[in-house]
Amino acid sequence: MPQIPEKIHELTVGQLSARSGAAVSALHFYEAKGLISSRRTSGNQRRYTRDTLRRVAFVRAAQRVGIPLATIRDALAELPEERTPNREDWARLSEKWRAELDERIQQLNRLRDHLTDCIGCGCLSLENCVLSNPDDVFGERLTGSRLLAEGR
Ligand code: FES
Repeated sequence: MPQIPEKIHELTVGQLSARSGAAVSALHFYEAKGLISSRRTSGNQRRYTRDTLRRVAFVRAAQRVGIPLATIRDALAELPEERTPNREDWARLSEKWRAELDERIQQLNRLRDHLTDCIGCGCLSLENCVLSNPDDVFGERLTGSRLLAEGR
């Protein structure tokens, strides 16, 4: 990973990409989603403050464990004056996300355990198939054809 001299306070998108390991397209996407921000030079080029590196690391770490971008954005927005998350912030947020992750892991375990029933079956039944109707969520909502009504 290339080092950036301390005297450089702002990074180009290429420097930010090289240093963070995130693709330039991902950085543009993060910016479009409000996870990071930049200022524009007179030549309309993006410049990021150095602490954006920490924000990108935070976003990527949270994404790696399956936290949706909208949840990450909400967490970042909760920080005072949109400051960069520090170690304590990460500890607090990761604790908050733990229950959500545990639930998702349990759900995936259940899907994995039933997957062998589906291999070679291909029915994708709304009544019996754990792939098309995990935990019978459609049955819990209402009876009848819910997929068609919800899709419109
Ligand atoms: S595909 Fe038939 S039970 Fe899932």
